[in-house]
Amino acid sequence: MNNLILIGYMGCGKSTVGMRLSYKLRRTFLDTDKEIERRQNCSISDIFATQGESVFRTMETEYLESLVDDKELHIVSTGGGMVLREENRALLKKIGAVVYLRAKPETIWKRLEGDTTRPLLQTENPKERISAMIEKRGPVYEEVADYIIDVDDKAFEDIVGEIVRAVEGEK
Ligand code: S3P
Repeated sequence: MNNLILIGYMGCGKSTVGMRLSYKLRRTFLDTDKEIERRQNCSISDIFATQGESVFRTMETEYLESLVDDKELHIVSTGGGMVLREENRALLKKIGAVVYLRAKPETIWKRLEGDTTRPLLQTENPKERISAMIEKRGPVYEEVADYIIDVDDKAFEDIVGEIVRAVEGEK
């Protein structure tokens, strides 16, 4: 089995599912947001506030590039906007099998209402922003995905099981 890369909108469960998958498959878990925060010694919110989104996107690309020659196999959870740049989409494909955790806007809203850690949702109407962004990004996530897993109303354990069956079914 290759590296497994989780993509999807903010709050779809990439980090939780990724962590659980890493226990189950005995792989190292990497979270691109956390790795960027560690490298920069700065929170994502501060990076957005002081350097802007475009600089953050370049940090995401640089991080993916650093994984290309990494021989160890990992479970990688990505930031929700990782798929926005074409070069990142190509890098994701190069690095491993891409699993899209697809969630409806209602599911995301239930999870992220009141969240203060996502700079892109600190707006007047975050609920509308979530729907609009998912409508726009949905086809992009689908295009880059090797596997699509619907996560609405499912327990994390079941999502993990579905992913393992999907990727192992192809061995
Ligand atoms: C973003 C998602 C966030 C983080 C940043 C931007 C996005 O990651 O990378 O706030 O553009 O969707 P999570 O998906 O882990 O929340």
